[in-house]
Amino acid sequence: MNILLAGGAGYIGSHTCVELINAGHSAVIADDFSNSCPEVLKRLEELTNTKIPFYNIDVADNEKLDKVFKENKIDAVIHFAGFKAVGESCEKPLMYYRNNLDTTFALLEVMKKNNVTKLVFSSSATVYGIPESVPLREGMKTGCTNPYGRTKLMIEEILTDVSAADESLSVVLLRYFNPIGAHKSGRIGENPNGIPNNLMPYITQVAVGKLPSLGVFGDDYNTPDGTGVRDYIHVVDLAKGHIKAIEYAEKHTGTEIVNLGTGIGYSVLDIVKAFEQANGLKIPYVIKARRPGDIAECYADPAKARNLLGWQAEKDLQDMCRDSWNWQSNNKNGYE
Ligand code: WQD
Repeated sequence: MNILLAGGAGYIGSHTCVELINAGHSAVIADDFSNSCPEVLKRLEELTNTKIPFYNIDVADNEKLDKVFKENKIDAVIHFAGFKAVGESCEKPLMYYRNNLDTTFALLEVMKKNNVTKLVFSSSATVYGIPESVPLREGMKTGCTNPYGRTKLMIEEILTDVSAADESLSVVLLRYFNPIGAHKSGRIGENPNGIPNNLMPYITQVAVGKLPSLGVFGDDYNTPDGTGVRDYIHVVDLAKGHIKAIEYAEKHTGTEIVNLGTGIGYSVLDIVKAFEQANGLKIPYVIKARRPGDIAECYADPAKARNLLGWQAEKDLQDMCRDSWNWQSNNKNGYE
């Protein structure tokens, strides 16, 4: 299939692009570079030995988006085009609602106009909010603690309603847990703007000497070592989950929600130790106060992905730590 990757030059989108082409599909990328840069496209063409049609557009611009569909035979869409920083969403909620919802509305309208009926959406485990219990299953209660998460939940509900009203549509909502790692080549990886919010890019910037030490946000949670527990998943495993999702969407209609996680929870200190062991490095850290909005534990029940999509994560924590470091150590300043 020829897949439009809306926001496809970003961290998850770029890794998904490589795996799509490896799996025999083709890709078209539309991206405004708000969370990426032109260098990513050069590296994607290097890694896939393929010329990838690219449109530097705001995905929320119906007219420009329609041009993409008119110039390429698009069979399905994967929607990555959204802002994704929790903290920033609290400072600039309107920017998040405007962007994340408008890109969605434009995609739905232009897909309809061009008779494209398969859509995979990049959602997030953040929609579960403060879990009543773990592991998290798809049918469990949702509830969000920040505007970013609320945009993801709203988009899930919009897509569910639109799909219920149009039986030709097939929608898969993928709830990512914590993506980390990078392609084994070290040519693409996570490239946060400014000081990283997320744990692994912060650790790799400490390791490469850009930051002095890691602040561990709280060691008084009700977890084995007191630090936050999350379900870290290798970004290449996550990317392969999209291939299975789009191939599922090709054969079905209706809406499915699927967790993409490993089902294993690791604490912050587990990650620090694993990173040090995998790479023979020392990561200095200090215990700090809890980060507002953080939860103690969040990890997936991955059974539905296995049973419905025939997908499960294959890479382990050592792979994630080794590949994260390989990317950072070979790209000290990211894609600059
Ligand atoms: C992981 C753990 C922190 C940084 C967020 C979004 C989620 C998704 C992934 C977009 C927590 C601790 C972190 C640091 C630390 N993003 N930590 N020091 O918060 O689970 O999820 O990113 O889709 O939607 O909510 O990920 O990597 O920020 O934190 O101690 O400098 O590491 O407290 O326990 P999080 P994270």
